[in-house]
Amino acid sequence: MVAGFLLAVAGGCSRSDTAAGSAGSGPAQREAAAEGPVHSRFTLTSEDLERLTEGLAPEVTHSILAAPHQFLDLVAQTLAAPAELTWLVDRRHPLDPEYEPADLVELDAHGTTLALSREGHRLRAHVVPDLLQMTEAARAEGVTLLVSSAYRSYLYQEELYAYWVEELGREEADRVSARPGTSQHQLGTTIDFGCICDAFAHTAAGGWMAANAWRFGFSLSYPEGYEAETGYAHESWHFRYIGKPAARLEREFFGGFQQYLLEFLNVRREELLDALVVV
Ligand code: DAL
Ligand code: ZN
Repeated sequence: MVAGFLLAVAGGCSRSDTAAGSAGSGPAQREAAAEGPVHSRFTLTSEDLERLTEGLAPEVTHSILAAPHQFLDLVAQTLAAPAELTWLVDRRHPLDPEYEPADLVELDAHGTTLALSREGHRLRAHVVPDLLQMTEAARAEGVTLLVSSAYRSYLYQEELYAYWVEELGREEADRVSARPGTSQHQLGTTIDFGCICDAFAHTAAGGWMAANAWRFGFSLSYPEGYEAETGYAHESWHFRYIGKPAARLEREFFGGFQQYLLEFLNVRREELLDALVVV
């Protein structure tokens, strides 16, 4: 039996944007990508959804099963965005050393709007409109968001990690610096704001970001108290752009915890895409 949840979804769903070589390209998704805005539905029964949520934290499962339509609507919107935005990149899920986003742009062109710690910061073009919008919203409330670190290549991260090992020793360095290939900064969608230090949490910018970043598609990657799950000490300054639908999904169904959302998508993305039908 196929009950299905009927969902309105703005935008196509492109599997060509998924991890290099890791995903196929279904006919429905190709059609959606070609034709732009579409309506989609999931061919999922309630039993399917219960199975899909197996293994999640009990509170996450509970919130999903309590509002399945809202959940699947946000999932569909998340899947319609470039997959890299929600790739799981952590200690156990590295990027290819060669991986470099094709659409990196220099932020200097937006120097009148953005506060930049130096020249030459780069991000994926996809991130810039929401970063500009977020920066202007913060400024309207008297808060300056200083971009202090953005895209970092594999080689740059290699040097940075080596620096921290030299400074702190390997064990401590591993708590604060990603080994090359495992940094979210290599995605070109991650920004360190302000001082890149613990004091950031207590600044106006730190408080503003903690409260508002999700509204613009940004997500705190390493929250306080979750080192066992993320692998890293609390970083109040490190935000990854995952897109607005994913940020809502994280906030409304995954306890505001990025790692839970990305782990879920890492395991279930293909299954969900297979159940997503363009109508
Ligand atoms: N500081 C974070 C973990 C990074 O190096 O990407
Ligand atoms: Zn960072």
